[in-house]
Amino acid sequence: MKILIVGGGGREHALAWRLAQSPSVTSVIASPGNPGIDHCVAAPASVEGYAELAEAQGVDLTVVGPEAPLVAGIVDVFLQRGLRIIGPTQAAARIEGSKIFAKQLFERAGIPTARQLSEIKRFPIVIKADGLAAGKGVVIAKDRAEADEAIAKLGPNLVIEEFLEGEEVSFIGLSDGENLWPLAPAQDHKRVFDGDQGPNTGGMGAYTDPRILTAAQSGEIMERIMLPTLRQMRKEGAPFTGFLYAGLILTTEGPKVLEFNARLGDPETQAILHSFQGDFADFLESGEQGKAGCSVCITLAAAGYPDAPKTGDKITGITEAEATGATVFHAGTMRLKGDFVTSGGGVLGVTAGGETLPEAIQRAYKAAAHIHFAGMHYRKDIGRKGLKRW
Ligand code: GLY
Repeated sequence: MKILIVGGGGREHALAWRLAQSPSVTSVIASPGNPGIDHCVAAPASVEGYAELAEAQGVDLTVVGPEAPLVAGIVDVFLQRGLRIIGPTQAAARIEGSKIFAKQLFERAGIPTARQLSEIKRFPIVIKADGLAAGKGVVIAKDRAEADEAIAKLGPNLVIEEFLEGEEVSFIGLSDGENLWPLAPAQDHKRVFDGDQGPNTGGMGAYTDPRILTAAQSGEIMERIMLPTLRQMRKEGAPFTGFLYAGLILTTEGPKVLEFNARLGDPETQAILHSFQGDFADFLESGEQGKAGCSVCITLAAAGYPDAPKTGDKITGITEAEATGATVFHAGTMRLKGDFVTSGGGVLGVTAGGETLPEAIQRAYKAAAHIHFAGMHYRKDIGRKGLKRW
């Protein structure tokens, strides 16, 4: 089986790495891919171009990483041409593409979520812009002045809702429109500094650990959130197929939805696929998997990230880091005269696993210590909030 992966970040490197290990997979190409992936093809200018690429390359199955091509209708184009692809149609991808659509869907289906506010009586509150905003469309306003500023900045189409207190969990599963096969739960680390301080980023690291959720919590998430969402999408004529990602808060009243994404998470995928047990190509066909352990992915970020990442700095130590047993996923790198150099904000995802979370954390930080580039910075507390479960 020949696989095409659409996208070029750390998530897509992890997909290429894991799928290349499946006995049924003969080759993996990525578009645009990145220097960590062996076979890359330049990105076509349109979603139709991806279908032409898949036909020209004799691709059997395409897996889409990022949200933009999904929202642009890549799955519809592939299906019209009889090409196999994992992902939701354009209509179903609205669950991520429009915060207003998603919020109304939750209300119609009775899915537990933050209450929308018609008048603001206390702070903090959450203000979300409609449409894709690459992680920059959500503001947590601590007072009236911050709320006014956010409303002016984010435009007229907004969702304004209560702030939910609790631990955040990424719950991702593969759906055929009706059933959902969950992957291991994960936690992201969005803020740039330790202790969840500083501005939001594209992800400073993530970890997966089966202990993030009890069996009862997973069951409740499936029964009260994931399956009702799939049912509602079918009822509304837009069945959701592909990876459905629920960003959840574990509140004292149970799990509630912050947002849905129509794809795998980044950097959660790097940790989840690192610890995945079984044949991931088989999983895509049948949902079959073994029991995952723990994995930790530490993002090594460029100087100035997230505001103004510096590029062009030579990276050393990747081979030494991998010699410890870790896997280094590329995200913001390019090749220059035989060297890897930085080309984006989140540069590398150093990922290591273990039977326990403490072991996975220790291995990931040991590997990261081998890598260097000018101005490199990373959080020192990835996975720490999970240690209380061990
Ligand atoms: N890690 C957050 C996301 O993928 O949206």
